[in-house]
Amino acid sequence: MPLLNTLVSYRSLTQPFPDTQTLLSQTRAAAGQVIADSAAADARVSQLAAGLAMLRTEQGAFPQVMHTPRNAAMSLLQTHIAQNAVTENKLESFLLRGLEFVFEGFEVRFSSADWFRWMLSFFTWIEAIDKEPLPSAPAEAAPIDDNFTVALFGDWGTGLYGAPVCAQSIQNEGDYDLLLHLGDVYYSGRDEEVSARFQKFWPNLPDALGRSLNGNHEMYTGGHGYFRELLPGLNQTSSYFAFQNANWTLVALDTAYDQPFDGQTGRVLQPQIDWLRNILAAAGDRKVVLFTHRQPFTLLDNDQGTNLMADLQEFLQGRKIWAWYWGHEHRLLLYEPHPLYGFRGRCVGHGGFPQARPDLGGAPPAPDIGDGWFHLSGTADAPNALILDTANVYIPGFEAEFAPHGYMRLEFRGAELHESVRAAGAANIYDRPLT
Ligand SMILES: [Fe+2]
Ligand SMILES: [Fe+2]
Repeated sequence: MPLLNTLVSYRSLTQPFPDTQTLLSQTRAAAGQVIADSAAADARVSQLAAGLAMLRTEQGAFPQVMHTPRNAAMSLLQTHIAQNAVTENKLESFLLRGLEFVFEGFEVRFSSADWFRWMLSFFTWIEAIDKEPLPSAPAEAAPIDDNFTVALFGDWGTGLYGAPVCAQSIQNEGDYDLLLHLGDVYYSGRDEEVSARFQKFWPNLPDALGRSLNGNHEMYTGGHGYFRELLPGLNQTSSYFAFQNANWTLVALDTAYDQPFDGQTGRVLQPQIDWLRNILAAAGDRKVVLFTHRQPFTLLDNDQGTNLMADLQEFLQGRKIWAWYWGHEHRLLLYEPHPLYGFRGRCVGHGGFPQARPDLGGAPPAPDIGDGWFHLSGTADAPNALILDTANVYIPGFEAEFAPHGYMRLEFRGAELHESVRAAGAANIYDRPLT
């Protein structure tokens, strides 16, 4: 299954060229043959140039580990190059040997003539990308049992590293009512990637519901792979939805559909706001738990998610949200309740994408919680948090450089919510009620 293991790095993209300028001028020449408007062609090439610079930084010293920058044009390019290199067999295999695992991957290898051809088809493809229509959600929350267990994992759509391990652990545990992915299939959620990186590894638990949120990466390709391929495979009819029992209302929103092209801002606009107002009115005095791809705030990322908080202001000010789980940032953080709005925030985006470990600046360990847990101090934008910071054995050769992979288990037992954090291999590393 070469598409799965094919990585498109800064090193491999620039390898056929004497310098980046040559790469960009060839790219501009190809853009000019496809895009009639010269300013529009310039703009596309500028987006790619910015993406290339970001990819270089992101890749750092690890070209043989999957990276993708926060740049829509570059994620699309990685999808296109990987697909073409696999089709034309322009791949070079490599092996990474680690402490416990071996990773067999492929780097793309091509000539500058290949590049020109591939850029012609690339611009032809991306200029024609339109947005899949947004299916509306059922007006009412679907009923669920009063005892209800959720497997929660985010940014899991690599099919690599800890992702298949998490899936196998969830499948082995077996007793889940809902498998909930918080979104992102890499590089940009195209059909072939949905199949190779997502569907192939989805836990096989026929009695559990399966749901996946829309991520910024899925929307780079207009959401076609997500809405037409991924959702039908899960028997999921909309990208936002709700469940309800006697004590709880679980609400999932689509924060990616209304993102601008660059994809770096999460939004929730109409019709979801109107739908959410009705769902929350029908929730009565049940506790509301929100699930989104995007974060409302962050302590370690440079995207503070301000728009998302603004979009949901009426519900936050009414203190309608009791807990909020999100992904997008590829880490595990458990925040204290928000000082103003009261919700308990959790970032659960560590399902399978390689994320460099952060500089915690001497943050104190939290031995009462367990090994690998640290206390992070809050800021004006985000409360104090616990962060999980250990090595990642699923990235062979670079274990100490990357943050761990894993998932969460949420047990709704009557009026109680019990949270567990599981290592990818299922070890229980945090286990307590959320109060
Ligand atoms: Fe992600
Ligand atoms: Fe994301």
